[in-house]
Amino acid sequence: MSIDLTGKSAIVTGSGQGLGRAYARALAAAGAGVVVNDVNGDAAQETVDAIVAGGGRAVAVIAPVGPAETADALVAAAVEAFGGLDVLVTNAGVLRDRVLWKTTDDDFDTVIATHLRGTFTCARAAAVHLREQGRGGRIVLVGSPAGQHGNFGQTSYAAAKAGIVAMARTWSLELARAGITVNAVVPTAITAMTATIPLYAGVAAAYSRGEPLPQVVRQEHALGGPEDVAPLVVWLASDASAAVTGQAIGIGGDKLSLYTVPREVGVTFREGGWDADAIDEAWETTFASYLQPSGIALPPLDLPAEPLAT
Ligand SMILES: NC(=O)c1ccc[n+]([C@@H]2O[C@H](COP(=O)([O-])OP(=O)(O)OC[C@H]3O[C@@H](n4cnc5c(N)ncnc54)[C@H](O)[C@@H]3O)[C@@H](O)[C@H]2O)c1
Repeated sequence: MSIDLTGKSAIVTGSGQGLGRAYARALAAAGAGVVVNDVNGDAAQETVDAIVAGGGRAVAVIAPVGPAETADALVAAAVEAFGGLDVLVTNAGVLRDRVLWKTTDDDFDTVIATHLRGTFTCARAAAVHLREQGRGGRIVLVGSPAGQHGNFGQTSYAAAKAGIVAMARTWSLELARAGITVNAVVPTAITAMTATIPLYAGVAAAYSRGEPLPQVVRQEHALGGPEDVAPLVVWLASDASAAVTGQAIGIGGDKLSLYTVPREVGVTFREGGWDADAIDEAWETTFASYLQPSGIALPPLDLPAEPLAT
C-alpha cells in the first residue's frame, strides 16, 4: 500500500467486530498503532490479537462510549501506548429499530447516547488533545444512509446519524485552523447489524460462506464486506486527504459516492413577506414539482435462488 500511516496513532471505537474491526485492522496494516475500543471485552481482545498476529500494534480499552470518562481514557491510552494521537474514528453503534409510536424513552436514549453523545465526547477529547499537540489530525465520524434520507423504523438512529453529519460539517469549520480534518463516512456493509434485515438475509448468508456477491448487490445496493469500506477510512486518516474536510462520503461494495449538503431546490420572493394564501399559490406554481422524497431508494433485489439461498 502506498498510503503509509507509520508512526501515527489511531483510536477506533466499537472495533471489536464488524466495520470497526476492519477499520482497526486496515489502519494497523498501514502502519498505525491502534487503540481498539468496545464494550465487548473478548471481541476487542480478538481484534487486538489479530492485529498483533499480523505484525501490527494495538491495545484494547473496554468501555462504553458516551461518557466523557471513556473519551478521556481512549485519548490517554493512545498517548501512553503510541506517544500521541493522530486519528479518531467514532464507529461504535447500536440499533433499537421501532416505529415512532413504539419507540420508548430508553430506546431513544440508548441510541443517542452511543452514537451522538459518543461521537461528541470522543471528538471533543480528541480535539482538545490534537490542538494542544499541534501537529494536525484526522477525525472520521460515521453516518448512515438512514441519517441522510430518513428510514422507516429508525427514529433515534436516523436522528443520531443526521446529527453526526451535521457535527462533521460544524467541526470541519472549527478545527480547520489547527489542521484537523473532520469527515463522515456513510458506510454500507454486511455485518451483524445488516444481517438482521430480512431483504439481505440471503446475501449475508452467501457472504459468510465466502461466495462472490452479484453485481446488483455490490453496485446498486452498495453492499459488500467491511473490508470494502475500510480503505476510505485509511485514506481519510492519511496525509493524502489533507484537503478534504466537512464531507459526507458514501462507500460500500463497489460504490464510492459524495453526498451534497442540503440545498434549496426552489426559491421565490414576495415583497413584504408571505401570507398563507400566497404560500398556497406559490406552492403550486413554484414548489410542487420539487417535492423531496423521504427514505432510502434502492432498486429491487431480484436474486437468483442459487447461490444465495440461505
Ligand atoms: N453495516 C452497515 O451497513 C452500516 C450502515 C450504516 C452505518 N453503519 C454504522 O457503522 C458502525 C458499525 O456498524 P457495524 O455494522 O459494524 O455494527 P456491529 O453491530 O457489527 O458493530 C458495532 C460494534 O460497536 C460496539 N458497541 C456498541 N455500543 C458500544 C458502546 N457504547 N461503546 C463501545 N462499543 C460499542 C459493539 O459491541 C460492536 O462491536 C455503526 O456506527 C453503524 O451505525 C453501519
